[in-house]
Amino acid sequence: MEFQDWSNGDEIKRQAQQISWDDFFGMGKSDKTIFLNNSRTRNPFHVLFSQQFNRRILDLICQVAEKAREIRKDRRDGRRFLRDLLFDVHALNFFAQPSSRTFLSFGTAQKYLGMDREDIRDPSISSEAKGESWFDSVRTFSAYADLLVLRHFDKDAVEKAAWVLNKSDRRIPVINGGSGPDQHPTQALLDIYTLYRAFGGKIDGKTIAMVGDLARGRTVRSLAYLMKNYEDMQLVFVAPERLKMKVDIKSFLLRHNIPFYETDDLREVIGEVDATYMTRIQDEHDKGGKKDEPAPVDPRFQFKFEYLDLMREHAVILHPLPKRDEIDLRVDDCGDPRVAYWDQERNGVYTRLALIATIFEKEQEILNF
Ligand code: NCD
Repeated sequence: MEFQDWSNGDEIKRQAQQISWDDFFGMGKSDKTIFLNNSRTRNPFHVLFSQQFNRRILDLICQVAEKAREIRKDRRDGRRFLRDLLFDVHALNFFAQPSSRTFLSFGTAQKYLGMDREDIRDPSISSEAKGESWFDSVRTFSAYADLLVLRHFDKDAVEKAAWVLNKSDRRIPVINGGSGPDQHPTQALLDIYTLYRAFGGKIDGKTIAMVGDLARGRTVRSLAYLMKNYEDMQLVFVAPERLKMKVDIKSFLLRHNIPFYETDDLREVIGEVDATYMTRIQDEHDKGGKKDEPAPVDPRFQFKFEYLDLMREHAVILHPLPKRDEIDLRVDDCGDPRVAYWDQERNGVYTRLALIATIFEKEQEILNF
């Protein structure tokens, strides 16, 4: 009998060549992780979904993000050091759905790391429009890049990319920048980093309210999966009947003994929670692409100005943004330090910087600076 040693990347590639897309897709998330993580460091290589992360990786990303932020305060030597780290790495950012923050913060992180980059934001001008298969398109991207960041309306596009790259001769990492209504793992990482900063590194034991479109909001879905990495977490889902959190997430939480509650009025719970995570109604899924004026949000799922008085002293308000009227405009600039969503945007740059640096095995160099 031969002992199977998968710690060598070549063996992963050999195994990957033998798995069809259907078999790969059908594998459980945790079984798939071996094809997604760096077999030597156990850190992520491809970043597809939140279930890939464990506590060690989450703590590492937060520490590297924090350190990179500090290094950049040294405008000369610090910034130069970061710019030298990945000067030879070329990123391709392929965004087939609208994006401001995710796109700009990936680009900014890449710039801080000295990387070269190419952006594709309009898939109608690339060869998919001529009938090229997605698998071939991804292979083609990999001929010109060392890293692929992908946002796509097909929830499986990024997984298809990882599958085809794994068996190719240019196995470059792919990062999910938003996969349809399914997941947005790098947003979840930056949300965790925001909580980490807000609570002095202590996320365990917190209760988080998630408010709004929980059925189609990929950010809350990815964040909910990360809860299993922390002790004594509780979730409160505040959503209209038709936009309630889906059963796949609820069964995941049950399986991991994470208590969750459901209500249809934010006022009821605002004084009990440590963080309130507001979201936008994802009505682009309602109208088949037709652009109507968005309907005003139901007041029960709105953050009202007077809720600041009801909130706990240390609690924070988060929002992945973009927002509409789900937060009273007076909250934006009221100067209350518990309003954390503007910092959250900025945290996206450092989180993505830390993630890219870790994928390319530069995280220790940053920590040792
Ligand atoms: C979110 C997204 O695209 O999923 N935005 C983001 O990346 N910060 C949330 C949204 O569009 O509502």
